[in-house]
Amino acid sequence: MLRFDIITLFPEMLVPLYETGVTGRAIDRHLTMVNCWNPRDYTDDRHHTVDDKSYGGGPGMVMKAEPLRDAILDAQDATTLSPSKVVYLSPQGTKLTQHKVRELTLCGQLILIAGRYEGVDERLINEYVDEEISIGDYVLSGGELAAMVIVDAVTRLLPGALNCELSAVQDSFTESLLDYPHYTRPEVFEGQRTPSVLMSGNHESIRKWRLQQALGRTWLRKPEMLNNLRLDPERQILLREFIHAYEKNSTNVSD
Ligand SMILES: C[S@@+](CC[C@H](N)C(=O)[O-])C[C@H]1O[C@@H](n2cnc3c(N)ncnc32)[C@H](O)[C@@H]1O
Repeated sequence: MLRFDIITLFPEMLVPLYETGVTGRAIDRHLTMVNCWNPRDYTDDRHHTVDDKSYGGGPGMVMKAEPLRDAILDAQDATTLSPSKVVYLSPQGTKLTQHKVRELTLCGQLILIAGRYEGVDERLINEYVDEEISIGDYVLSGGELAAMVIVDAVTRLLPGALNCELSAVQDSFTESLLDYPHYTRPEVFEGQRTPSVLMSGNHESIRKWRLQQALGRTWLRKPEMLNNLRLDPERQILLREFIHAYEKNSTNVSD
C-alpha cells in the first residue's frame, strides 16, 4: 500500500482522483489511499489565516509555515507506512520523469504539498521538505494539478492497478523507448489504412514491426533517449532499416 497525503487549500479539486479511472479503481482495490489535509484546519485565528504578506514587500502572498508544518506532522502521525517522503510541488523543483515516478513507487507514504499564491515560506521547505518536484517549465496557479499528476503516474505503476499489467511495461519511457503507434477499428479511416502487418496475425512480424516503430519514433522525437539504451544486434538492424526508409522517403518527397 502506498498512501498519498495531499496538503491543499482546495481539497475539492482532488475529488476526481477518488472517483475516476485508474486511481479510483486502485483506491477501491486498496492498493492506494488519497487523503487531504487542509492547512486552514491548523489555524487558530477567526479568519483561519494561512497566508501573509511577503517580508521585504512585493506582490502576492506567501503561505505561512506553521499551518503547513502542523498538517505535515499530522499526516506523518496518521500512518506507520514507510518510507515517508515529503514533496513540495514547485516549478523550481527537479523535473518529473518516468524514472522519478518509478522511484516514488518505493515509498510507503508520499506527502505532497500543493502551494498557492507566491509559494510557501522558505523555512518550511528547509526544515520539512525532502524533495521539490516540478511537472514542467511553466507556472501553475497552484500545486493541486501537479499533485494529481504524481498520484496518477505513480498509481498506474502499482501492481494490480491496471487491468492489463503489460500496458505499463510497454508505455513510453519504460525501456528508454517511446511507445509504438496504435490502431483500432475501423481498418480504414479517412483513406488511411492500418499497417497490413498488424492484420497479418503473425505475432513475430508484429513484434518486430512494433519494436522498429518504437526505435524509429524515439530516434525521430527524442534521440537523446537512445544514448541510455544498449542496442542489441536485432535492434541495430531494425533501427538502421527504419532510418534508411525514412531518409529515402524524405529524399523522394524533396525531389
Ligand atoms: C503561482 S505558483 C508560485 C510560483 C513561484 N512564485 C515561483 O515562481 O517559483 C503557486 C504554486 O503552484 C505550484 N506550481 C506552480 N507551477 C508548478 C509546476 N510547474 N510544477 C509543480 N508545481 C507548480 C507550486 O506549489 C507553487 O507554490
